[in-house]
Amino acid sequence: MISKYRINAYLKYRKTAVSKHGIHSPFVYDLVTKVFLKKKEKYGEDVAEDYRTECILNKESIDVLDLGSGKSGPRKIASIAKKVTNTPAHGQLLYRIIKYIKPKKMLELGTSLGITTYYEASACKHEKFISLEGCPQTAVKAVSFFEQNKLNVTVRIGNFQNTLLKALQDLEVVDYVFFDGNHQENATVNYFETCIPFITNNTIFIFDDIHWSAEMERAWEKIKMHPKTKMSLDLFHLGIIFFREEQKEREHFVIRY
Ligand SMILES: C[S@@+](CC[C@H](N)C(=O)[O-])C[C@H]1O[C@@H](n2cnc3c(N)ncnc32)[C@H](O)[C@@H]1O
Repeated sequence: MISKYRINAYLKYRKTAVSKHGIHSPFVYDLVTKVFLKKKEKYGEDVAEDYRTECILNKESIDVLDLGSGKSGPRKIASIAKKVTNTPAHGQLLYRIIKYIKPKKMLELGTSLGITTYYEASACKHEKFISLEGCPQTAVKAVSFFEQNKLNVTVRIGNFQNTLLKALQDLEVVDYVFFDGNHQENATVNYFETCIPFITNNTIFIFDDIHWSAEMERAWEKIKMHPKTKMSLDLFHLGIIFFREEQKEREHFVIRY
């Protein structure tokens, strides 16, 4: 069930969100028209969606260790596939963004079953993609899916607290980071700050569920106001951060999506 908090947050978003006609920045206008609004262009979804269906039909339970919500215990794979993973539309959006920006070094916090990871990893020829997951049994399922499909993704199992910095050091720089793990304020801001020393001018950070809760909204505000942040885009379900030095004045856009 959608919480009252999210409904109110959505109504607030709809009031302020602008369409492509309200965007003065050529960089953002291009992103909106060439990437965000190309919703009918479908790529790479057969494999990911066949796998989602297979997971939804899977009656097996696994022992879930959720280091974010603390809700650990047996859980049906079907329930994870239905309730935890991003929707096909969001997978497609990430696919289009990645295809457009062509990152070489990619990082994801929160692999889960690997459905969204498939969209991300199949969108471009990257050098290295590390995806972090805290739940060993969920990660095993994702790894076997990646192996079957020969995806260039390395899954590292453990608490982000222990795996994030090492992954960043191994990547040396990050061009793309998707934050979809622990949806708590301090943790989210902390992961963001840990990634900052590894950014380049063209790095893009994408945060899932920035309006999920008051905590996530506070985290999003702090991230937007961080001295390194040059531009933020709020698409309601996702928040995107850019660090481009050519952007002289910091700007924030709330975009109708
Ligand atoms: C929302 S799910 C990720 C969904 C996935 N990106 C998708 O769209 O299919 C979040 C995942 O992050 C993992 N997680 C949460 N907090 C974590 C932490 N502190 N360390 C490691 N993994 C964590 C959970 O086990 C869960 O699988």
